[in-house]
Amino acid sequence: MFAQTPTPIGIFDSGYGGLTIFDRIRKRMPEYDYLYLGDNARAPYGSRSFDLVYHFTRQAVRRLFEEGCRLVILACNTASAKALRTIQQNDLPDWDPARRVLGVIRPTVEILGTVSRTRHIGVMGTAGTISSRSYELEVEKLFPEMTVTGEACPMWVPLVENNEYNSPGADYFIQKHLEHILSTDPQIDTLILGCTHYPLLLNKIRRFIPENIHILSQGEYVASSLENYLSRHPEMETKLTKGGHAHFMTTESKEKFTETASLFLNDRIEASQITLD
Ligand code: DGL
Repeated sequence: MFAQTPTPIGIFDSGYGGLTIFDRIRKRMPEYDYLYLGDNARAPYGSRSFDLVYHFTRQAVRRLFEEGCRLVILACNTASAKALRTIQQNDLPDWDPARRVLGVIRPTVEILGTVSRTRHIGVMGTAGTISSRSYELEVEKLFPEMTVTGEACPMWVPLVENNEYNSPGADYFIQKHLEHILSTDPQIDTLILGCTHYPLLLNKIRRFIPENIHILSQGEYVASSLENYLSRHPEMETKLTKGGHAHFMTTESKEKFTETASLFLNDRIEASQITLD
């Protein structure tokens, strides 16, 4: 049904944010080939309905499979929250049960056990991720004793995408949400940055919260979890091509993608424009 070769690792995001995850994955495993797809024409996903996020993500995963990927990482919290499970359970068995789609929420939650002492966790995310309660559900499975408080930060993605995140105006929106979540649960000792864009806000976030609070920026956990997955699944690992190449596809203008991608990656890249249907 799908192309058999070559087999890069597929990385999907609604737009640019997944580049922060891709960056960590590639730094850790530079030998593999990667194919990144950003659905920039339809981003942001953060405020979209469950059905639409599922529909768009399904189209994107299918396209990556058609391009030869056997393993796709949903490097987007909103897509991981709203589409991953349905794709795994309903679509993969029909498409090709040997292909895999993995998300970013589980690897982030797995690390909590070694980090949090108070067992009170805060999650910053898009409205979609927070209202889906996906982090709560995943924490409940692994660490039922933990208490999770979510905070939707609808302005944080636009601040990054408009390159305003270092401006003084950004401080207001960053401080407001951090103060709110910490006053809702003052026992929080671990804060998950549950959105791909937020690592770019890290320096500012650090300024507004007490030093003893851990900030989990998920890229490194997703990368180490993927490495671990590949070591446990040689049937997948041996099929992946290892040329060290990365290609980028966007559903919006390739010039714009190339320009904005440099905010997220310290690298100049070339993208091609595609249509998803
Ligand atoms: N990539 C999305 C996430 O991690 C943020 C951008 C969007 O809303 O599409 O939730």
